[in-house]
Amino acid sequence: MSRPLAVICLAAGLGTRTKLSRPKVLLPLCGRSLAATALAAVAPLRPDHVLVVVHHQKDKVESEIRKAIGDTLAGLQFVDQGKPRGTGHAVAVGMAALADFDGDVLVTYGDCPLIRPETLAELQRLRAAGNDGAGAGCSLLTGFPEDPAGYGRILRAANGTFHGIREHRDCSPAEAAIDEINAGMYCFDAAALRAALERLTPDNDQGELYLTDAAMWLASSSDVPGGGDVPTLAVDDFAEVQGVNTLADLAMARIEMQERILLEHLDNGVLITDPGSTWIDHDVEIGADTTILPCTVITAGCRIGSHCSIGPFSHLRTGTVVGDGCRVGNFVETKNARLHDGAKAGHLTYLGDAEVGARSNIGAGTITANYDGVNKHKTAIGEDCFVGSGSVIVAPSTMARGAMTGAGAIVRRGSELGEDEVWVGVPARHLKQREKGGGVE
Ligand code: UD1
Ligand code: MG
Repeated sequence: MSRPLAVICLAAGLGTRTKLSRPKVLLPLCGRSLAATALAAVAPLRPDHVLVVVHHQKDKVESEIRKAIGDTLAGLQFVDQGKPRGTGHAVAVGMAALADFDGDVLVTYGDCPLIRPETLAELQRLRAAGNDGAGAGCSLLTGFPEDPAGYGRILRAANGTFHGIREHRDCSPAEAAIDEINAGMYCFDAAALRAALERLTPDNDQGELYLTDAAMWLASSSDVPGGGDVPTLAVDDFAEVQGVNTLADLAMARIEMQERILLEHLDNGVLITDPGSTWIDHDVEIGADTTILPCTVITAGCRIGSHCSIGPFSHLRTGTVVGDGCRVGNFVETKNARLHDGAKAGHLTYLGDAEVGARSNIGAGTITANYDGVNKHKTAIGEDCFVGSGSVIVAPSTMARGAMTGAGAIVRRGSELGEDEVWVGVPARHLKQREKGGGVE
């Protein structure tokens, strides 16, 4: 598709139904906000412009979205709608920032995170194919929810062609009985959209400017370029267009998104033994032949190699990089930790801001004490080290290749354990040299 593309993502609404103080579009979904997730769905379409229409707590919304996804979206801009006066008004504010733009304009919602890129691409294709291939001024997405209450209903002529949308609150009883609803996502031709926006009036129950009226006007205006035909696309899976309005909606969206993420890993040869109890955020890489055991939580940005065993009950946090053939066992938490190939931390351990060399073994109950109350410090453990059970290594400290601590050792801050040295005690002191493969008597 060579036509230029602009996306207008509506995110100015307040979201009072969550009863939370933070903006609804910033609620978390598998490691990023609802809005960042909704915007991630447009990234594969390679838009030239992405306008996010914001208002409530706009600075917070903008900074979170930029942090989460700014790098992957060209032409990302935020526009303040001022007091929200309806979806038509919001899109008009977005279009004002796209003054000279000519091409497709996709409208999406910041609170509909489950939309798939393929569906939006199809909506674009449908617009281009409209009016017998000359291009329609608008195409739109519809759906058939279990309960259509609250949605705008799709009005069709006797021959089935789209001729309008009626908001639930403006519906007659006969219109309210229609089960096809407007999902709220559209692909417009920029010029047709501009013409349609000029004609919007707040002539409805809420006194707002409705974007739906733009689609209706184009459908009935065969004399304007792009007018006369508004093709519609019904989604197969209603979850794609399900908005998040309440925390219960958020919980359902999370289940759906989690399933998608897990299926992708399963497809890639990651053996997830209990998908029902496994939480894996977006943006996690896991190599084939790795096994993820139950009740494991892996947050965004973690990288895990092949032939590893992770879990049960492991918590891998931001910045964790695990090499090939590693084992991270039960009640092990890692953060900003790098485990090189073949490293093992089997039980009850915290590895924070730590490096663990290849083949090193971290005994049960080991803690890297990375935080001194003000700053975080690093622990560097070399290759083939052996950290005895119950060791506390106060950072910054280093263990050179082959070094060993005895069970219960408290390695004081700033310690440097030399190659093959064995340290024991509280605080730990250098006891002797390690005999190859030997333990501490
Ligand atoms: C809208 C549609 C309705 C459709 C439904 C699908 C209109 C008039 N109605 O209704 O046909 O079935 O979506 O979910 O378009 N927003 C702004 N600024 C505004 C108003 C809204 O940014 O001034 C944003 C909201 O934050 C939200 C989205 O636009 O993300 C939709 O607004 P909302 O008020 O939820 O519209 P609905 O009444 O649900
Ligand atoms: Mg809504």
